[in-house]
Amino acid sequence: MESVAYEPEALVFDPSPLFSRRVQRWEPGAIRSLLPLEGIPGMISLVAGKPNPDTFPFSKISITLNGPEEKTLVLEDAALSEALQYAPPAGHPGFLKWFQGLQQAVHGVGNSDSWTCCVGNGSQELIHKAFQVFTDPGDPVMLETPAYPGVSSFLRVDGHELVEISSGMEGIDPSDLERVLSTWPEHRRRPTVLYTVPTGSNPTGRSCSETNKARILALAKRFNFMIFEDDAYYYLNFEEDQSKRARSYLALEQEVNGETGRVMRFESLSKIVSSGMRLGILTGPTPAVQKVVKITENVNLQPSTTTQVLALTLFRHWGYTGFIEHCAKAAQFYRRKRDCFAAAAERHLQGRATWQVPTAGMFFWMKLLLPPGTDSFELLSKKGIDNKILAIPGMAFLPNARKACQLRASYSLVSDPDMDEACRRIAKLVDDAWRDEFANSAKSEAAQAVVPTTMKITA
Ligand SMILES: Cc1ncc(COP(=O)(O)O)c(C=O)c1O
Repeated sequence: MESVAYEPEALVFDPSPLFSRRVQRWEPGAIRSLLPLEGIPGMISLVAGKPNPDTFPFSKISITLNGPEEKTLVLEDAALSEALQYAPPAGHPGFLKWFQGLQQAVHGVGNSDSWTCCVGNGSQELIHKAFQVFTDPGDPVMLETPAYPGVSSFLRVDGHELVEISSGMEGIDPSDLERVLSTWPEHRRRPTVLYTVPTGSNPTGRSCSETNKARILALAKRFNFMIFEDDAYYYLNFEEDQSKRARSYLALEQEVNGETGRVMRFESLSKIVSSGMRLGILTGPTPAVQKVVKITENVNLQPSTTTQVLALTLFRHWGYTGFIEHCAKAAQFYRRKRDCFAAAAERHLQGRATWQVPTAGMFFWMKLLLPPGTDSFELLSKKGIDNKILAIPGMAFLPNARKACQLRASYSLVSDPDMDEACRRIAKLVDDAWRDEFANSAKSEAAQAVVPTTMKITA
């Protein structure tokens, strides 16, 4: 694991001046803010409306792990009561501590009060709350484009101006970002957030190089904005040589900028442990994470304790090494699927589409070579269903929706024979589009040929 040690005297950027007006209005939750005091020895608490676990209808939760040993992890007695009970809004303390240790081991963040973690019901919830911390409705927001629609759709509802920053083979393009920010009109409020998916981007499957990350970090300092690093696919990286993997923004910030505090890093257990457990983790500057927690304590009280305790039990059993080994196996699984999809695409889509082989994650991003003016949305929604092929049209990933000829194909669940058949069906859609185009142009040529005659008759 690569790690960068923080200098003891590291400078810490305070993000508070970038906070939105709306987040200042959240007060501490009247009940939640008193709960930490219950831990004071001798305290009798009449505060919380916590249910008495004696009334819960469960005596044990046991989970048996896949693998040759068939290890079973059991929650009972006090551990079970804890798992079924309310917990602090930032997350279960044991789970948080475990994850903070992981961040130190993987990203090299040092022991400091300047950063912390909180847990959410999936990373998407945390991203949504973090946007509330740094933006007011209507503010401009910068998005690496193509962009994950789960984020652009809620931003659109709040009337944000969605500023597209282009991305290429090496991830987000720092030159485009610099162009946008250096030509930003004087009178307009400047964007405070850049949202990016740096590893195995959804939808492109591409990963951002360390060089690009360093340039983006420098621009964040120069133009005073926060980087929202949504790294849901970080552990599904297909590059086996660790030294060739780009370090995270979180890991690089100190080295590049000589200070920390502009990176909000979002991670998810969805792609590596279970999506149904709904566990996401935010790592970021303490004042900003505390604001996210304030929203949680007012809106949904806390993330699920039950799934946090289950995950913690599993992680303690694995240790950090076991966790990393598990993720490496998951990455290997998807790498094989990626290779299989790439082979199917080679067989059927040569000359009909172009693509780059994904470097991480679950997605192929293809540009269909369609007749001019044909759109993948129209093609997939009209002809795709008839031909029994579903994929997401490129338009969904363009924050300011417009016609596109790309599609996103997810290979995570599809069997090898179905991948072959899927690529064959996509090829047929492209061929049919050209056939229709030729038929239409033949018709219009025929019509052209008829016009003078008709005109002669009418004249
Ligand atoms: C880029 C990206 N971010 C966030 C999410 C949401 O993840 P979670 O299940 O942790 O909410 C997804 C889910 O597909 C994703 O692709």
